[in-house]
Amino acid sequence: MREKIKNYKIKNYFKYYLKVKNMITSNELRQKYLDFFKAKGHSIIPSASLIPDNDPTVLFTTAGMHPLVPYLLGEKHPEGKRLTSFQKCIRTSDIEEVGDKTHHTFFEMLGNWSLGDYFKEKSIAMSWEFLTSPEWLNLDKNKIAVSVFAGDNDAPFDQEAFDIWKNKINISEKKIAKLPKKNNWWGLESGGPCGPDTEIFYWTGDANKIPDSFNDDNDLWVEIWNNVFMQYDKKDAGILEPLKQQNVDTGMGLERILAIVNNLADNYQTDLFKNIINKIEQLSNKKYGINEETNKAIRIIADHIKAAIFIIGDYKAITPSNTDRGYIVRRLIRRAIRFGKQLGINQTPWTNEIAKIVVNDYANIYFELQKNINFIISQLNDEEEKFSKTLENGLKQFENQKLKVKSISGQIAFDLYQTYGFPIEMTKELAKEDGIDVDEKGFWEYFKKHQELSRTASAGMFKGGLADASEETIKYHTTAHLMLAALKKVLGNHVAQKGSNITAERLRFDFLHNEKMSAEQLQQVESLVNQAIEQDLIVSCEEMTLDQARTIGATGVFDSKYGEKVKVYTISKGDNIFSKEICGGPHVNQVGILGKFKIKKEESSSAGVRRIKAVLE
Ligand code: SER
Repeated sequence: MREKIKNYKIKNYFKYYLKVKNMITSNELRQKYLDFFKAKGHSIIPSASLIPDNDPTVLFTTAGMHPLVPYLLGEKHPEGKRLTSFQKCIRTSDIEEVGDKTHHTFFEMLGNWSLGDYFKEKSIAMSWEFLTSPEWLNLDKNKIAVSVFAGDNDAPFDQEAFDIWKNKINISEKKIAKLPKKNNWWGLESGGPCGPDTEIFYWTGDANKIPDSFNDDNDLWVEIWNNVFMQYDKKDAGILEPLKQQNVDTGMGLERILAIVNNLADNYQTDLFKNIINKIEQLSNKKYGINEETNKAIRIIADHIKAAIFIIGDYKAITPSNTDRGYIVRRLIRRAIRFGKQLGINQTPWTNEIAKIVVNDYANIYFELQKNINFIISQLNDEEEKFSKTLENGLKQFENQKLKVKSISGQIAFDLYQTYGFPIEMTKELAKEDGIDVDEKGFWEYFKKHQELSRTASAGMFKGGLADASEETIKYHTTAHLMLAALKKVLGNHVAQKGSNITAERLRFDFLHNEKMSAEQLQQVESLVNQAIEQDLIVSCEEMTLDQARTIGATGVFDSKYGEKVKVYTISKGDNIFSKEICGGPHVNQVGILGKFKIKKEESSSAGVRRIKAVLE
């Protein structure tokens, strides 16, 4: 009870504090952004899953544009040509950097898109209006500087963007930097829609010392918004082809803009972290903001547990494991636990306490969290229990080795991994803290000898990537629809897609089902799909509201508060309806061209999830 009263007081104090300081909350800011773009004719689309569909090159959704790639390449979007969203994102390329003031693995990206509609001038004018108009964010115009693409052998200097800033917006030329591709170009690493961008920076230093020119080396100029003018399609071998349509893709990180608007020194002081940090303070009896070592540990815990919760709580839930995405979740949780220990958190288990706060904070924005809260907590508890048992002994082992040999051999690093559950990245981080070396190459040699962990998960392949829309992958995409329908017919309606990964050579498909499929069931699925192919069923597409899609029994995810329009792909001939599924496309027109469908493997993917690998022959 006392706890309750205390929490109540903290909550109310916090509300009061925000009011007195005239702060804008994250919910208000998110809503303001959507309202602004809605008023400018954009449809609000919901955040997509953190786990991209049909994209073999990437582990997580890294930007708001990610789920929109097919539309940027020319597919028609059911909501029209102007879209706006807030997208949950995970960037894991530098997990070990998290702990300072600026890095996050989980963040939300506010974005607006023009799919072949407006282009540079309108995009820039709208960004400027939203940032500076007293009606919207009312930021100080003098504190804004921008950069544009300087041009190189592949694409010319962005004169148009430069002129718009200079002549239409009236920014002083000295505050318009011309920067190379490294700074002012955006696209996913593996290719697809891309183009020059213009970035907007805000001066976060002394208000009396606003420089009259922009220098991108000065960290006090903080990038707040990126407007990408997508006019190219990056093909294999890096060749840029003009896109059918000129698009705009903009992205603004919510955590960062919230800190800026509220004049806070770091993102972790915003309300997106406030309650979480209060909880960590309470669990550890330490205060945020007093010393850097404590700050670092608190930020790591706040960021990592939040990220893990969003990944586990996604409707395509990923659970901790030793491969791919699961390995990232494991790394996040284990790194947070290690820093929890360093911070002196004694309660066990404790990560679930943070989960309750995160779920509560985001409950009205990301409905899936509340829905999956029990699952999230049980997964966190399991992982925490596994790791807490070995962490202490592992650390002792590390210390012993350190004293004995002053470096960590491949064998020891492998032992720390195998026996004590230390991800290699954790061993490296510990060693770095002590200024000693780790024989990482040696570790991988031991590793390869012993088991098969996808190295990609730790080698950073997930920085960005793009579904390849080649003819072959489109075929596999349609095959995935046929297979899901066949699985439902054979196993029952509980079967739901958990994820798929398509390359030009094969289809990998994860779905909810509790037990191993029998040889007979596999055979039935194969022949149902092959029959559909032989009958040359026709693929058709219709646009409708999510409610209508539900009513007609389409397969898909129906969590959304916007009642937005979706595309439903039906595979049928006359009365013979084989599959109806919500999907962005693209698909083949008739399934006769798919060839012969063959299941190569059926195995467990994680608890309650099976995985099928299949090919077209
Ligand atoms: N795709 C761009 C980014 O992530 C703009 O949204 O910065």
